[in-house]
Amino acid sequence: MMLLAHILATILTAILSSIPTKDLGPLRNVAIKVMNESAELTNAFSHYSDDLPPQTVTEEFDFIVVGASPSGSVLANRLSEIEGWSVLLLEAGGEPSILTRLAPSATAFSSTEYDWGYYAEQQDSFCSGCVRKRVKLPRGKCLGGGSSTNYMIYTRGNKLDYDMWQAMGNPGWSYEDVLPYFLKSEGANIKINDTGYHNKGGPLGVSDVPYRTRSATVFVEAAQEAGYPYVDNNGEHQIGTSYAQATMRNGLRSNAGTSFLRPVRHRKNLRIRRGAHVTKVLINAARKEAYGVEYVKNKKIYTAFYRKEVIISAGSLNSPQLLMLSGIGPKGELERLDIPVVKNLPVGEIFYDHVSFTAMGFLLNESITLNLVEDLFKPKTYTDLLFHGRGPLTNLGGTNSLVWLKTNLTDQDHPTLPDVELIFSPGFPGIDFGLFYRINFNIGDEIYDTLWKPFIGKPVFQVSPMLMHPRSRGRMKLRSSDPFEAPKYIENFFSDRENLDITRIITAVREIQRIVGQPALQKYGAKMIDVPIPGCEMYSFDSDEYWECAMRAVPTSVYHQMGTCRMGPEDDKDTVVDSNLRVHGINSLRVVDLSVVPRPLSGHTVAPAYMIGEKGADIIKNHWGALGV
Ligand SMILES: Cc1cc2nc3c(=O)[nH]c(=O)nc-3n(C[C@H](O)[C@H](O)[C@H](O)COP(=O)(O)OP(=O)(O)OC[C@H]3O[C@@H](n4cnc5c(N)ncnc54)[C@H](O)[C@@H]3O)c2cc1C
Ligand SMILES: *[C@@H]1O[C@H](CO)[C@@H](O)[C@H](O)[C@H]1NC(C)=O
Ligand SMILES: *[C@@H]1O[C@H](CO)[C@@H](O)[C@H](O)[C@H]1NC(C)=O
Ligand SMILES: *[C@@H]1O[C@H](CO)[C@@H](O)[C@H](O)[C@H]1NC(C)=O
Ligand SMILES: *[C@@H]1O[C@H](CO)[C@@H](O)[C@H](O)[C@H]1NC(C)=O
Repeated sequence: MMLLAHILATILTAILSSIPTKDLGPLRNVAIKVMNESAELTNAFSHYSDDLPPQTVTEEFDFIVVGASPSGSVLANRLSEIEGWSVLLLEAGGEPSILTRLAPSATAFSSTEYDWGYYAEQQDSFCSGCVRKRVKLPRGKCLGGGSSTNYMIYTRGNKLDYDMWQAMGNPGWSYEDVLPYFLKSEGANIKINDTGYHNKGGPLGVSDVPYRTRSATVFVEAAQEAGYPYVDNNGEHQIGTSYAQATMRNGLRSNAGTSFLRPVRHRKNLRIRRGAHVTKVLINAARKEAYGVEYVKNKKIYTAFYRKEVIISAGSLNSPQLLMLSGIGPKGELERLDIPVVKNLPVGEIFYDHVSFTAMGFLLNESITLNLVEDLFKPKTYTDLLFHGRGPLTNLGGTNSLVWLKTNLTDQDHPTLPDVELIFSPGFPGIDFGLFYRINFNIGDEIYDTLWKPFIGKPVFQVSPMLMHPRSRGRMKLRSSDPFEAPKYIENFFSDRENLDITRIITAVREIQRIVGQPALQKYGAKMIDVPIPGCEMYSFDSDEYWECAMRAVPTSVYHQMGTCRMGPEDDKDTVVDSNLRVHGINSLRVVDLSVVPRPLSGHTVAPAYMIGEKGADIIKNHWGALGV
């Protein structure tokens, strides 16, 4: 059986790697079509009832939540715990297909109908080697938002992140305040865990990944040899190394839908409406008070009113869009688009993201990396998943092991606050023959053909340095007043005057090289792939100048946009919502999702998004006198 799998995998590899990269389109489209169809099928047999009223009937609820993001899904669940409250959740996308529950599939979904298909604006100073010279911004469009299509890494960030939020004028958001809300969501099953930092009983599955390639283990060993302690990164200390904790239960993805919506879908006081794209929050300009929302479903316009509040949870990329479409945003911008100004606020003027660089690979002399093609031909792969919730199909799409470090370049006052995360992947963009993985990281054909294609079938791993507190920050604007047109996202990567962002990533590259040089990895002859990136051949390979050129050629977003509706006191001119998540100066309107984050987080963002939902729910219950009911 093993031999047969090996032979079949070899044949398939030979066939697929012989197809020129530019001709992969039709094959990719077939795969996308299958995934699109699986979406249609799932929604035809959905777990959720479609209960749309006739267009002539206007509905009224106590609360309307816009967007089934992680935060929005938590809110819909927690608010409808109060039997006397009625809640409407409106989500533009559908129910995610069962295929999204398989961890390795994550790389593919950003090309399907489960994604908004966004790209950042083209800018001259970076991305010359990217597809269409633009940074791709995948964005989940389905129940659960990004939690249903992301790479499933569960990290809460650093304690100091939250203490700084509080210090910036946000009482109630210190680490001590928010930890109980992380715990409330979490249903953990993690072998190495710090006491007091995890909860077994919450609805969101969080677990170790049951399948680890040998290369992932060896990387963690090498990091330890390089001096990094093994840590529970969601525990007492963050700086160090560990395997990824994942939003997973029994080997399958846990998303906001399966964790927070499906279990309560029969509640009489909760309506969950799919395919409902909210186009506007209705606001009485004179009274500065929101009173309803307008949405489009099946190409028809509907209106819904509410008695208590509307909560926008449409995510960092869409919540600011919706506010601006409703007249809340930078005055000049709104006037430019003839949108009547209800309230002048700096919506979208700050746009944080985590930049990374994924074009650095290492070759080993033994097959200890991921070999999914061969595994797919082994029946055991499927029985392992079905009967034991383990095996290669539980391997995360993007990573296995992580390191958090602090470079010597920033913020020496906070030695426990890391500024770079190293993301180890047991594979590389050639692992799926250039079909999806590289599309997610927007690596263009020429770079792919030079750097990765020659290594198909070889044991290659990748380490990507992610900058957690970049100096450069972007912004977003409306492209037009059409709610169906994608806004403009301007990343401004590597634009800080001292070029510190680049310098820090280069320092991280040196640190990666130091780790790779440790005995654990050298036992397998680990060696950096020294093929220069097209366009950077004029620099001596591995010089600082070379790395700067390479990073500017193919930087990538790690899809952690935050801060577009930043939280802070009303007299702070850079903020949009207060510490109770109320939009400054507008009644009965809150934003509850990752867009309120006041300062970039030291980690991935989905865990904080759930926390913001939990905390937001209690803020709202407290406001309406229902806390503890
Ligand atoms: C490919 C990818 C990989 C990632 N990997 C990880 C990871 O491994 N770990 C991690 O922690 N984070 C990861 N992230 C990031 C993480 O998933 C997001 O930060 C998280 O989902 C929170 O995002 P959000 O609050 O911005 O809301 P989103 O998740 O963006 O949700 C917003 C929701 O609102 C809906 N919506 C938007 N506009 C409207 C409208 N007008 N009307 C109705 N509904 C609307 C959307 O369809 C969507 O469902 C990844 C993201 C991507 C895209
Ligand atoms: C898949 O769905 C997306 C979004 O609806 C659409 O743009 C795309 O054309 C579809 N692709 C295929 C191959 O069906
Ligand atoms: C923490 O680790 C211990 C020891 O491995 C284990 O018994 C316990 O179940 C773990 N707790 C969680 C929440 O995973
Ligand atoms: C920081 O560390 C790098 C290498 O790790 C070294 O080359 C550099 O000189 C150090 N910078 C400072 C400011 O100490
Ligand atoms: C891999 O390289 C290491 C270091 O050079 C060497 O000790 C080891 O024997 C090699 N393994 C194989 C299978 O060639």
